[in-house]
Amino acid sequence: MKIDVMVAGEAHLRFVTQINDAIDEAAKQRGTGIARRTDEYIADKINSGKAIIAVNRDEFVGFCYIESWGHDEFVANSGLIVRPQYRGMGVAKRIKQAAFDLSRKRFPNAKLFGLTTGEAVMRINTDLGYEPVTFAKLTDDEEFWQGCQSCVNYDVLQRTNLTKCLCTGMIYDPVKVAKKKAAEAEAAAEAKKKSGSFWSRLFGK
Ligand SMILES: CC(C)(COP(=O)(O)OP(=O)(O)OC[C@H]1O[C@@H](n2cnc3c(N)ncnc32)[C@H](O)[C@@H]1OP(=O)(O)O)[C@@H](O)C(=O)NCCC(=O)NCCS
Repeated sequence: MKIDVMVAGEAHLRFVTQINDAIDEAAKQRGTGIARRTDEYIADKINSGKAIIAVNRDEFVGFCYIESWGHDEFVANSGLIVRPQYRGMGVAKRIKQAAFDLSRKRFPNAKLFGLTTGEAVMRINTDLGYEPVTFAKLTDDEEFWQGCQSCVNYDVLQRTNLTKCLCTGMIYDPVKVAKKKAAEAEAAAEAKKKSGSFWSRLFGK
């Protein structure tokens, strides 16, 4: 078996209904109540180069697409699905990494975020550098939150005035990550300098 993960293109449009069925079926099984997307919506994501697909030769394996919100200030990876027979093999991890790379390339200044109740997605997001945050740190784009309206837990979100629900919000903030990396590099350089001066004091060099 050779599973390839790539940005979806025209050749993958034939999988649209199958992809949508798989997302829909998984949502039903999880009992989220999330409404089915239209096939046109999925096709549009593929046509605009905003979808990642995993295939095993001629067979559809998994999928995910990206959506931007709040005038491109935020980007979410949505519709993540791996067909049941391909689960537990690291496919979602590869799809999410590809979606992350695509999001960073297409929207370099955007904060990447997601809402999930799933442990697998929380683990993958954490490995990618996402952090759990309160909903106040996510987009305030009304259209995004309207997407929660069909969820079985929407009453919770309404009662809390969009501040909390059963999902965990996670965010990757490129500015924060860059600052953290710079601080780590500075600390490492400082430690190296200190250890260098220790040895030079010891051996008088
Ligand atoms: C969630 C889903 C995409 C995971 O796909 P997958 O290819 O099996 O995931 P991976 O094999 O890449 O596993 C990624 C990580 O999640 C963990 N994981 C996978 N399935 C898990 C589960 N059901 N419960 C807890 N952890 C799980 C893996 O151990 C791995 O963690 P690690 O990196 O610490 O080892 C898949 O189960 C699915 O399509 N589910 C239905 C749709 C869905 O829930 N989508 C997410 C909506 S937010």
